Amino acid sequence: MKKLLILAVMLTTVLAGCGQKDTGTTNTQGGTDNKPAVTDKAKLTVGTSADFAPYEFHKNIDGKDTIVGFDIEIAKEVAKDANAELKIEDMDFDSLLMALDTGKLDFVISGMNPTQERREAVDFSDIYYLGEHSVLVKKDAVGNFKSADDLKGKKIGVQKGSLQEEIGQGVEGAQLTSLAKLPELVMELKTGRVDAVIVDKPVADQYAANQDDIAVASDVKFELSEDETGYAIAVKKGNKELLDKINATIKRLSENGDIERFVVEANELVE
Ligand code: ARG
Repeated sequence: MKKLLILAVMLTTVLAGCGQKDTGTTNTQGGTDNKPAVTDKAKLTVGTSADFAPYEFHKNIDGKDTIVGFDIEIAKEVAKDANAELKIEDMDFDSLLMALDTGKLDFVISGMNPTQERREAVDFSDIYYLGEHSVLVKKDAVGNFKSADDLKGKKIGVQKGSLQEEIGQGVEGAQLTSLAKLPELVMELKTGRVDAVIVDKPVADQYAANQDDIAVASDVKFELSEDETGYAIAVKKGNKELLDKINATIKRLSENGDIERFVVEANELVE
């Protein structure tokens, strides 16, 4: 008897379901039928190496580990303009462009200079910010670094896959240490395993401002092209649709002075 009852209940449920479906399909006025509501926003996945304050870095905000920085603010605006939800993938710098190519990422923003070599592999947006490259050294050694020539024969730390790695490779007699993450390099410097770290100037300035024992060797300058000092967003080669949108966002943010503001705000967040 009990079994029968269960069967009857099941049957009614199934029938009720069918009935509902029927009303749905015959209801031409509502237009929505029984399809689930379209709440799923398009998603854009951005790749970055969040070891790079003030561009992109981790910060505890209200007890939650959050990726912040002026690149991240720009990425958020890109997503906003594209009416998409932003997903951030934190990866090693040297694996970003490959992940773009395989489709894991939609775009990359990571304090990246659009070098000639990279331009062959991916497409870049317009330049959204200009920087330079600096040399970080131990504070008590600043006096030993008066020009780029003083790097010759030294132990130099660079991030793996970065433009600085290339710069370092061009320094006569230098002994390079290439590591995946920037804080590891700064540790190498502090412990004396490298004499200098070549890194983007805004990042070097941050470290020098926040840590007592290291400083920027400001007399050491490199001669570089605009592609090597400007920062741009990368998309997969041929993704013109997204690239056009990104360029429109960059134009809007640059004209409004928003990028400058993002830089100032990001610098204030660094500890
Ligand atoms: N600007 C350098 C480059 O394009 C280094 C960038 C490193 N970025 C980072 N988020 N760690 O190669």
